[in-house]
Amino acid sequence: MAEIAFVNVTKRYGNTVAVDGASFTVADNEFFCLFGPPLCGKTTILRLILGLETPDSGEILIDDRPVTHVGPAERNIAMVFQNLALFPHMTAEQNIRFPLVERRVPEARIRERLAHAAAKLHIGHILHKHPAQLSGGERQRVAIARALVRDPIAFLMDDPISALDARLREEARVELKRLQREAGRTLIYVTHDQEEAMSVADRMAILDHGRIRQIGAPVALYDRPNSAYVAQLLGSPPINLLPPGLLPGARADAVQVGIRPEDVEVRPGAGARVTGVEPLGGYTVLTIEAQGASLRAMLRGQPAYAPGQSIAIGAAPERMHFFGPEGERLAS
Ligand SMILES: Nc1ncnc2c1ncn2[C@@H]1O[C@H](COP(=O)(O)OP(=O)(O)OP(=O)(O)O)[C@@H](O)[C@H]1O
Ligand SMILES: [Mg+2]
Repeated sequence: MAEIAFVNVTKRYGNTVAVDGASFTVADNEFFCLFGPPLCGKTTILRLILGLETPDSGEILIDDRPVTHVGPAERNIAMVFQNLALFPHMTAEQNIRFPLVERRVPEARIRERLAHAAAKLHIGHILHKHPAQLSGGERQRVAIARALVRDPIAFLMDDPISALDARLREEARVELKRLQREAGRTLIYVTHDQEEAMSVADRMAILDHGRIRQIGAPVALYDRPNSAYVAQLLGSPPINLLPPGLLPGARADAVQVGIRPEDVEVRPGAGARVTGVEPLGGYTVLTIEAQGASLRAMLRGQPAYAPGQSIAIGAAPERMHFFGPEGERLAS
């Protein structure tokens, strides 16, 4: 088992606070995502878990044991890096063997672990190939196999599939989810792609300048963001953040009202105007201007709206998110 906990961890580089009082617990076997904009501290958190960095304050626990001052070798956690970092001049098999050869593991044991990883990851047929001869998805599986042969207690992945194109990324993340379940290991996963985070994570932590803003299941965060900050990071097209006067039925004490594009109701009428129509097949995204503000609506199918058309907009009050002066969610 491998439960990983941060207790009020802070890490500074000079004047930069890379991680700012972060507390969270990743459960054994959990697929946990760290998500947030560039430089919010994602990689630093992984390096702290690995033991490549030491916190300035706070404590890191693995299975309730403090490891804050335990070195990387004794933590036995495997990292899969952003670019997968396969050696181009080695075959897949040589790449996978490498960490074991380096640790002088006996040959019989290496063969056993290689066979086990190759079977788990379905790569027996590509072991003789070099990375350049492999597809993006195959390279990912080889990189994971290389981590798996070490028999780590947990995997950390730093944006491992960001280099793939959109369609391959979608395949890769489905695969990754399956691999994590089959490998039965804790996985802490960094991505800057909200859709990827939402699709794979059991739970996710949303970061902002080294601080954790909210932790929860993706759908829970999507439906009940604790702040405008979290609300606008999840969902595409992003949530509309509007002045309260714009939508009928919105609370007047809110500074901003959030309404997701799929929750905007549109009908022929007055008060707003269509300025853009994006027909995407299964749904249509309208860009709308109302009282000097711009918002987007996502409608099912291919409704017949045209730029310039006058419309009325609305939303069910229970679909609105009300935020106060600091962007905090107002109690309902
Ligand atoms: N070795 C270092 N020396 C100085 N500052 C650093 C170092 N590593 C990280 N930082 C700073 O710490 C902050 C967090 O960086 P980190 O790399 O953890 O962010 P990130 O969320 O992984 O970003 P990205 O999405 O761009 O990968 C940034 O302000 C960064 O400039
Ligand atoms: Mg990073």
